[in-house]
Amino acid sequence: MEIQLHGKKIRYSEDFKEGFDTAIIHNDVLSVLNTLPNESVALIVTSPPYNIGKPYESPLEFQDYLRWQTAVLQECVRILKPNGSICWEVGNYVSDGEVFPLDVYFYTIMKGLHLKMRNRIVWHFRHGLHASKRFSGRYETILWFTKGDRYVFNLDAVRVPQKYPGKLGYKGDSKGRPTGNPRGMNPSDKWEIVLRDWENELWDIPNVKSNHPEKTIHPCQFPIELIERLVLALTNEGDVIFDPFVGVGSSLVAGLEQNRKSVGVDKEKNYTDIAFARVTEAINGKLKRREFGKPVHQPKGNEKILRVPEEWKTAKLSKWVQ
Ligand SMILES: C[S@@+](CC[C@H](N)C(=O)[O-])C[C@H]1O[C@@H](n2cnc3c(N)ncnc32)[C@H](O)[C@@H]1O
Repeated sequence: MEIQLHGKKIRYSEDFKEGFDTAIIHNDVLSVLNTLPNESVALIVTSPPYNIGKPYESPLEFQDYLRWQTAVLQECVRILKPNGSICWEVGNYVSDGEVFPLDVYFYTIMKGLHLKMRNRIVWHFRHGLHASKRFSGRYETILWFTKGDRYVFNLDAVRVPQKYPGKLGYKGDSKGRPTGNPRGMNPSDKWEIVLRDWENELWDIPNVKSNHPEKTIHPCQFPIELIERLVLALTNEGDVIFDPFVGVGSSLVAGLEQNRKSVGVDKEKNYTDIAFARVTEAINGKLKRREFGKPVHQPKGNEKILRVPEEWKTAKLSKWVQ
């Protein structure tokens, strides 16, 4: 099928085939992976189910879950190009209050598949569930592995503004001259990309979720920007990116917006339908989304939401009240 929007022709497919720009496949991940050609994909990027009882999961024994994920990763390695990358975004599996950090388990699985780790990126976000019996979790990790030692890494495409552009050298040849790279600095392996665009909205609108620009019905949706940085750094224009657990298509949008071909699989039809709608909106320039590289909101100090409520003061409930 060809979607024609604003003069741009996008070849859409429901299968992985030659000549497509984007393919959204509604099926089980392994059934699809088994049919894909060897060494055909430049970047595999996903957030798999964590086996924590989300509506789209049938919980497995933890060891069975790890075996299933190993089978998925084995096939991913087969379809990955020799200079390609795999990025697995994970949090914790929790059972009876005990935390099992999934990246620890996935590291062992990836090493067993002869992949080489390039970064363990910490994705820090400021909001989430408030734990009462342990510290609240405010980060997840992206494990970036490559198949070989020669791999794509376009650092210039993802540089961020220098923190101290006016810093001058104080000795040698660089004395008195700016020391930073004018093209910007390496974004490092700690990323602060808002989980939901509530950094801005929070201050004014209490009902955060319904006002979030990218929010759909999916309970665990990626911010597009998170994937966009990986797409820009780890692939070149025209490359194929693949998300084996694509949900509502955030990585497809990230790929298409950066002129890559993108393929995604999900077993839930209501998610792949939304993915198709979002891809169409993105091509049409109509998708509501957080702007790439937009700084995270920093409160100025006079916002209403920063004030200690009167009832806390009266009852001396807060130890920070004078
Ligand atoms: C963590 S979510 C991914 C969300 C996605 N990153 C997004 O931004 O929408 C995991 C997804 O895996 C899908 N899934 C779970 N088991 C699957 C299977 N066996 N085959 C294909 N998809 C599966 C779920 O339906 C869910 O949408």
